[in-house]
Amino acid sequence: MATKAPLTGIVELAEKYDAWVMVDEAHATGIFGESGAGVVAKLGLGDRVLVQMGTLGKALGGFGAYIAGSCALRELLITPLPQFHIYYGAAPAIMATALAAIDLVEREPERREALWSNCRQLAQGLKR
Ligand SMILES: Cc1ncc(COP(=O)(O)O)c(C=O)c1O
Repeated sequence: MATKAPLTGIVELAEKYDAWVMVDEAHATGIFGESGAGVVAKLGLGDRVLVQMGTLGKALGGFGAYIAGSCALRELLITPLPQFHIYYGAAPAIMATALAAIDLVEREPERREALWSNCRQLAQGLKR
């Protein structure tokens, strides 16, 4: 149904050429995978994708975004270079909303199943 990038092949290619892979999970967080963790988790590539980013503002219904990766990546991103200073703290209420939403995503897979069921129904209806 959904068209997805051949991520496993992309990761293999990146490993062959010593490149980094960054995956934008903005439209996957809360949607894909057994626990809703996204495409990288669904494909078991968590240890091989060096940068994962996503938004808290789509399936999680909140505000803001995240970047996840190694300690080295974290150090790189929070290094206080004046021209590239992206580190700032999110408001506690924003983080509480995100944590509650992640909890719902994990505890209530039926919401995800309903979404996929609606997607299938829409696709079938459009085809007809
Ligand atoms: C692929 C992708 N990444 C990131 C974003 C940013 O999402 P947000 O503005 O919810 O943080 C969007 C927004 O549509 C998107 O489509």
